[in-house]
Amino acid sequence: MDAIMTAKGIKRDFRVGSEILHVLKGVDVDILRGKLTILKGRSGSGKTTLLNILSTLDTPTEGDVEFLEKKYSVMNDAQKEKMRREELGFVFQSIALIPIMNAYENVDLSLRLAGIETDKDERIKRVLSLVNMQDRMLHMPGQMSGGEQQRIAIARAVAHSPKILFADEPTGALDTENGIKVMKLFRHLIEKEGVTVVMTTHDPNLMELGDVVFEMEDGELFERREN
Ligand SMILES: Nc1ncnc2c1ncn2[C@@H]1O[C@H](COP(=O)(O)OP(=O)(O)OP(=O)(O)O)[C@@H](O)[C@H]1O
Ligand SMILES: [Mg+2]
Repeated sequence: MDAIMTAKGIKRDFRVGSEILHVLKGVDVDILRGKLTILKGRSGSGKTTLLNILSTLDTPTEGDVEFLEKKYSVMNDAQKEKMRREELGFVFQSIALIPIMNAYENVDLSLRLAGIETDKDERIKRVLSLVNMQDRMLHMPGQMSGGEQQRIAIARAVAHSPKILFADEPTGALDTENGIKVMKLFRHLIEKEGVTVVMTTHDPNLMELGDVVFEMEDGELFERREN
């Protein structure tokens, strides 16, 4: 299978007082291109820690990640930041739209951060249509429901055509029905935009919607299912 990202031997220790927590104990994982990968596992098992390492937000104690033929260990902070803005997209549980910007402006901001100048208006309208929010472009976040805001956040996260979209509990603030809608939206984006999605979830109802499901258990990652 075609891996877009490969992580090898990932360990992550945290020092808490005089104690050292071994949160990731040697994780190897291939992220398959154009697939929806789900990380599950109990609270505190290390899902966010792994996602943060895969997405350059955190650095492992040991091990390395390779993406676009580059190893994170040889990249400096500026190179990683550039890669985050241009090649990666992020969605979080707390939706974090800019409250004083309308939907259109929120999406526009991420294009500006990625340095995209050309055909911006067309692109913003396209991604808002992809999440079926084309009629809400001028609405402020406070005028939208949680599920609607998350759809705008997803439009924003894919506006600059990232290669991988990382989503940490993207459905955590939503009920199962809206959670399923978000998952269907990811599927739609994979088909229409060719993006690869890596997400975490607690919700057992959503697991079956992933192509590949991994479980984090005692600092190790186990593959549970591949379609
Ligand atoms: N910066 C940190 N300093 C110390 N300990 C940390 C730090 N970040 C995470 N941990 C610890 O690492 C473990 C894994 O945390 P992580 O956030 O990755 O879990 P999770 O699987 O995402 O949990 P949840 O499902 O609740 O989001 C936890 O025990 C947490 O307390
Ligand atoms: Mg987490």
